[in-house]
Amino acid sequence: MKVSIFGLGYVGTVSAACLAGQGHDVLGVDVSADKVNQINNKQSPIVEPGLEPLISKGVETGKLKATQDTAAAVRHGEVLLICVGTPSHANGGLGLTYVERVAQDIGQALATVNDYKVVSLRSTVLPGTFTETLKPILEQYSGKKAGVDFGVTVNPEFLREGSAIEDFINPPYTLIGAEDERSGQTLAHLYDGIDAPLFFSDPDTANMVKYACNAFHAVKVTFANEIGRLSKVVGVDSTRVMEIFTQDTKLNISPRYLRPGFAFGGSCLPKDLRAINYLARHTDVDIPMLEGVMESNVEHIEFALDMVVRSGKKSVTLVGLSFKPHTDDLRESPMVALAETLLGKGYKVTIYDANVNLARLVGGNRSYIEQTIPHIASLMCHSLEEAVDGADVIIASHGVNDDLVALAREDQLVVDLSRNSSNAHWMGKSAYEGLCW
Ligand SMILES: NC(=O)c1ccc[n+]([C@@H]2O[C@H](COP(=O)([O-])OP(=O)(O)OC[C@H]3O[C@@H](n4cnc5c(N)ncnc54)[C@H](O)[C@@H]3O)[C@@H](O)[C@H]2O)c1
Repeated sequence: MKVSIFGLGYVGTVSAACLAGQGHDVLGVDVSADKVNQINNKQSPIVEPGLEPLISKGVETGKLKATQDTAAAVRHGEVLLICVGTPSHANGGLGLTYVERVAQDIGQALATVNDYKVVSLRSTVLPGTFTETLKPILEQYSGKKAGVDFGVTVNPEFLREGSAIEDFINPPYTLIGAEDERSGQTLAHLYDGIDAPLFFSDPDTANMVKYACNAFHAVKVTFANEIGRLSKVVGVDSTRVMEIFTQDTKLNISPRYLRPGFAFGGSCLPKDLRAINYLARHTDVDIPMLEGVMESNVEHIEFALDMVVRSGKKSVTLVGLSFKPHTDDLRESPMVALAETLLGKGYKVTIYDANVNLARLVGGNRSYIEQTIPHIASLMCHSLEEAVDGADVIIASHGVNDDLVALAREDQLVVDLSRNSSNAHWMGKSAYEGLCW
């Protein structure tokens, strides 16, 4: 394909050289005359293993050229990739000046061309940028309609500096955020030579995925370092700890525990986090991320509570009381905390949990209820029908199933804490709100 790449920094130069290497006809654009000259002189404007030979080959074969002329680049490319920087403002906000400027330039040039082109934003931008910045600027400056006269997409980049070429050629996946089929499919052709899964989404989802990835990488580094600091102070080799830790691909390095839902609880996670934080305090080790985890968990319960408060309704039933499905363990269940807070605020609360039948409870759970949360026992309903019948709000933690969908009435609000049912089930029935989706 004919490709133009706007911004010849780390992402733009690597993309330009790799795409040229795959036989695409690439024209790179930068406002910096030095970078443009370097590329045309077969030099790399950045330090990156293997990049200069690739640039050199691209220039020699005529597949890679660079220019400062934006309008010429818009005329050249079927696909126009924006790879300009998006630096932080002093307040942490995202700097969109370069994106705005290049979108204006591209828009102006689009006004003068007749053929269909797809603009794709490869820079990292927050959700909302597509609709509030990129698309309106392109439409305003071109006088054309996005999705009709030209295509527009986002296409986050996942390469890492230092292994950028390998990452470009073997990415974890290619992700294209588009509002219309033609834009997305046209851009997808650019990656025909890349052997990686291809995902399509709306633009904001694609941008959020990129932030989720980088936030997760940062969290992982910090997690390993906090475990490291703690291990060192107790004389344990943290490298060995994490070597063994990462061998668990069922629970640790896996999709487990990565589904947005309700707060964690139960007999182990809160207890063990508290123990680790106690150890840190008593050995004078700061582990702010792990210390903040319980606080964030409490915040999540508050978030659910706010949904009930905002609804203005006063009578609430909780479906599911244990901390997760298929158990009757109520110890430190966030649902118990939610019930207690609602009661404290004067709400009428009932509870139904198919696994928590007070008559049948024995041993630890029975004594936990009797001694720690005796007030909860009197709120338990014997059937789902009974629970749903008297409530204005149904908070479904787990056990959202066809029975609940069938029983819920139009005048009731259903708050789903764990997305056990698809929103579609509730269409035309009760008002339905997911906790964080
Ligand atoms: N560096 C990485 O490893 C990496 C990886 C993935 C995503 N990203 C994201 O990709 C984007 C680009 O990052 P980078 O590190 O390549 O940035 P960079 O600062 O190295 O390069 C940006 C380039 O854009 C040029 N530029 C600015 N305005 C221009 C305009 N109007 N027309 C043409 N060129 C213009 C600049 O001169 C510069 O050469 C950022 O949003 C970044 O967050 C970076």
